[in-house]
Amino acid sequence: MTTPRRPLLAGNWKMHGTRAEALSLVEGLLGRLQGQLASGTREVLVAPPFTALDAVARLAAGTSLRVAAQNCFHEARGAYTGEISPAMIADLGVSHVILGHSERREIFGEDDAQIRRKLEAALAQGLGVILCVGETLAQRDGGHTVAVVEGQTRAALEGLALARPDQVTLAYEPIWAIGTGRVASPAQAQEVHAALRACVGRLGQPAKQMRILYGGSVKPDNVDGLMAQADIDGALVGGASLEVEAFARIVEFEA
Ligand code: PGA
Repeated sequence: MTTPRRPLLAGNWKMHGTRAEALSLVEGLLGRLQGQLASGTREVLVAPPFTALDAVARLAAGTSLRVAAQNCFHEARGAYTGEISPAMIADLGVSHVILGHSERREIFGEDDAQIRRKLEAALAQGLGVILCVGETLAQRDGGHTVAVVEGQTRAALEGLALARPDQVTLAYEPIWAIGTGRVASPAQAQEVHAALRACVGRLGQPAKQMRILYGGSVKPDNVDGLMAQADIDGALVGGASLEVEAFARIVEFEA
C-alpha cells in the first residue's frame, strides 16, 4: 500500500522498568532491530517511565530509535510539586510525549481542556505529541464511538497551528481493548481511523499526512491484519512492548 505516512511503532511501557531493566530492553531492541532502524522505512519509539528517560535517551542517542515521555505538565516551571515540564523532557534529548492516554484521563481525571494545554505547551517546546483518544465499552455499545473520539480530537486540534504535519500523531485506543487481550478487529479499527482522518481534515489539519496509530492489545499475531488497513499508520503498544522479541515482531509487521 502506498502512503505518504511512514509507519510508527511505539512502545508505551507505562509504569514498568527500573533503569537497569529499561537499559537492557533498549539494548536488546537496538541489537535486534539494527537493520530496521538503519533502513529508516519505519519509525520506532519507546516511552519509558520518567525515571529511565535520561538513561534511555543517552543509549538511543545517535540511533534512529525515538524516545518519548508518557506525560507532561503544561507549565514551564513553578510550584507544581511532582510535575515535569516539556522543557525538562526536551532537555534530556527526548523527542516526543504521549498525551491524553485513557489511563491519564480515567485514573487521574485529565479532561480535554487540560490535555489541550499540555499539547500546546509540548508543541511550543518542539516535542512531537502522540495524542490518544478512545471510547469506553459502554460508549461503543451505545453507538457513540465516533462522536466520542471526534469530540476528543476536536478539543485537541481545533484552531491549532501546526508547523509540520508530523508534530502530532493521533492514537485511537478503544479503552475496552487496552490491556484486556480483546483487540479491535481490523475492520472496527479502520472504520474509526477513517472517521478520525475525515475529522482531522474538517478541522483544517493535514489529514493525509497525519499519522493515526491503533492501540489496544496489539500483539505479534494481530499486528499484520491491523497494519493492512488503509488508515492505520502504526501501533501504540503496551504489554507487548516490554519484550524484545514481541515488540521486534510488531515493528517487523507484514502488511
Ligand atoms: P496494551 O496497551 O497494548 O497493553 O493493550 C496499549 C496502550 O495502553 O497504549
